[in-house]
Amino acid sequence: MAEDLTIIQTTDKATQYQSLIPQIEALISGEEDLIANLANISAALKEQFNWFWVGFYMVKNDELVLGPFQGPVACTRIKKGKGVCGGGWEQASTLIVADVDEFPGHIACSSLSRSEIVVPLFHNGEVAGVLDVDSEHLAHFDETDKNFLEQLVTLVNLA
Ligand code: SME
Repeated sequence: MAEDLTIIQTTDKATQYQSLIPQIEALISGEEDLIANLANISAALKEQFNWFWVGFYMVKNDELVLGPFQGPVACTRIKKGKGVCGGGWEQASTLIVADVDEFPGHIACSSLSRSEIVVPLFHNGEVAGVLDVDSEHLAHFDETDKNFLEQLVTLVNLA
């Protein structure tokens, strides 16, 4: 496995994901440790997209607990149904928030975050965690992000 990435310079999101996802697959396929893989996925996404914040919250008992991430320090625990992350967990579906100020109960880990996408990770049909991405730009995430990020999280072995 090569621990380096080819970062492509284009503004076309689909092209960026199509370049990055096979590289992430190669990066994590030889490693069974979940924390190591989530850490490298966060780093790879940050390198390609330079999002404000990208990382994971994992379900532990009745809460989401902060996992590997890239970006500023963040809140560590989120209850089911709370904020965008807890909402994605409760609804077991991807949430795209174009303007976090318009989302009731949004948890502002940073006032610089303006839009957000949360993508659940499933294990045995249950939500095992979420991938959370924040942007300093309004309406930064769309169906292209949803489709590719949903594809990406299926690569994570949660066993
Ligand atoms: N904004 C999230 C909290 C996590 S931080 O963005 C990293 C939410 O509302 O769930």
